[in-house]
Amino acid sequence: MNAHDLQGRKALVTGGARGIGAAIAQALAAAGASVMIGDVMEDTGRETASALASNGTKADFVRLDVTDDANWATAVDATIRSLGGFDLLINNAGIEITSLVAEIDPADLRRMLDVNVVGTALGMKHAFRAMRPEGAAGKGGAVVNIASVAATIAFPGIAGYSATKSAVDRLTRVGAMESGKLGYGVRVNCIYPGLVPTIMGQKLATDVVAAGLFPSVEAAIGAVIEQTPLGRLGEVGDMADAVVFLSSDASRFITGAGLSVDGGMGM
Ligand SMILES: NC(=O)c1ccc[n+]([C@@H]2O[C@H](COP(=O)([O-])OP(=O)(O)OC[C@H]3O[C@@H](n4cnc5c(N)ncnc54)[C@H](O)[C@@H]3O)[C@@H](O)[C@H]2O)c1
Repeated sequence: MNAHDLQGRKALVTGGARGIGAAIAQALAAAGASVMIGDVMEDTGRETASALASNGTKADFVRLDVTDDANWATAVDATIRSLGGFDLLINNAGIEITSLVAEIDPADLRRMLDVNVVGTALGMKHAFRAMRPEGAAGKGGAVVNIASVAATIAFPGIAGYSATKSAVDRLTRVGAMESGKLGYGVRVNCIYPGLVPTIMGQKLATDVVAAGLFPSVEAAIGAVIEQTPLGRLGEVGDMADAVVFLSSDASRFITGAGLSVDGGMGM
């Protein structure tokens, strides 16, 4: 068995219906894990889970709005019941609403805080409660939070989003510290993805143009690539492979870390 093998692991991937989350679900499954997709997009989420199941993975879908504490309790119960345990949580659900600082709409900012920060914090809460020795799953495990290169650089138009992702970074560190000190047996790490042309990534590129920051989408993407030593945008598989690493025993002595998966953009 190689150290990246996830045979027997049971994972819940939030925001797993599409985009980076769907690729993470697929990569965890390819490494041998059973996967529960948790998302607010029910039809797409069910389709993503069915596609995994048709390839022989034990996979299921649960409706999960990550901002809702009661939803989390239900989703964790459903994961344990359907998959027979719970040892990996990928806190991937997130939203981005572009705005110049001078134009910030408090409702938009609060919505990002709710999904990106409260959602991630509640995920850690429920993972810890279930995975710690006295919990319903009780075998420890790993949490991987999806932050962003936005937590490490100053890209114009995304101050509010960047603030929420910096918060995810800090939640990761304090969560890792508490889990270690309190003997939960749960490692907690995060990744900082660079720009990936998912629906979110493409919308960001058009929104920074609409905000007057770049003359065209090509110019906006060109600016990102220009700042990226590896000279390209990210792909969903780049993110998924890093998550598999942080979920697996290959990273068994790593906790409280943030891994840049951004082609060097944030260095
Ligand atoms: N695409 C990028 O360039 C990029 C870069 C850095 C970080 N990220 C982060 O990666 C993660 C995934 O992004 P993506 O590009 O795949 O976005 P996406 O918009 O394509 O997918 C996001 C998924 O999250 C789900 N979601 C949104 N709100 C939710 C909620 N309240 N509860 C449950 N699910 C919810 C959506 O339904 C969707 O399936 C996000 O956290 C994002 O901030 C993305």
